[in-house]
Amino acid sequence: MSTALVPGTFDPITNGHMDVIARAAQLFDQVIVAVAASQKKRPLFTLEERVALAQKATADMPNVTVEGFDDLLTTFARRKGANVVVKGLRAITDFEYEFQMTAMNYQMDTSIETLFVMSPPEYMYLSSSIVRELAALHADYDRFVPACVKEALEARFPVEDS
Ligand code: COA
Repeated sequence: MSTALVPGTFDPITNGHMDVIARAAQLFDQVIVAVAASQKKRPLFTLEERVALAQKATADMPNVTVEGFDDLLTTFARRKGANVVVKGLRAITDFEYEFQMTAMNYQMDTSIETLFVMSPPEYMYLSSSIVRELAALHADYDRFVPACVKEALEARFPVEDS
């Protein structure tokens, strides 16, 4: 059985991430969405909240599960029996960062391969921090996130009565 990881901070999960997960789910028997604790990023949502949102968003994908992790990606992948990491590539600006991470991961475990999928144009410039900013400013961001994420962001950034 082939198992792939789709890792990230997912603070919160966006439709861009959903696109990567759906593509991975077509290519591999089993996909684990690996939600990194990423404490250094000071996430808006706790690890438990990010895992719960990703679980809700992927509930109708039968071969996708979601797990949080707090160690090295390669250690987590080995523990889960996954030998492929799937990542989304958006603009060319992603390349340098992804290249560095892939090279480091490869140094740590040569049995783990990283596979990149191209994001479609509508998600090219999407990121979790842009979504958080749109939510904080009460802008329209429905098309960028699953419904459960929109609900969670609205609760986090309620519209004040003036
Ligand atoms: N669509 C939309 N947004 C995307 C995207 C896509 N296809 N791909 C990435 N993004 C966004 C993310 O939302 C994130 O946005 P933000 O920075 O505005 O919050 C940004 O692009 C960076 O994403 P990503 O490259 O997935 O980084 P990350 O910080 O979310 O996750 C880990 C990186 C978790 C994979 C990496 O830090 C890791 O492996 N950590 C574990 C510890 C470890 O092994 N460290 C050594 C690594 S060499």
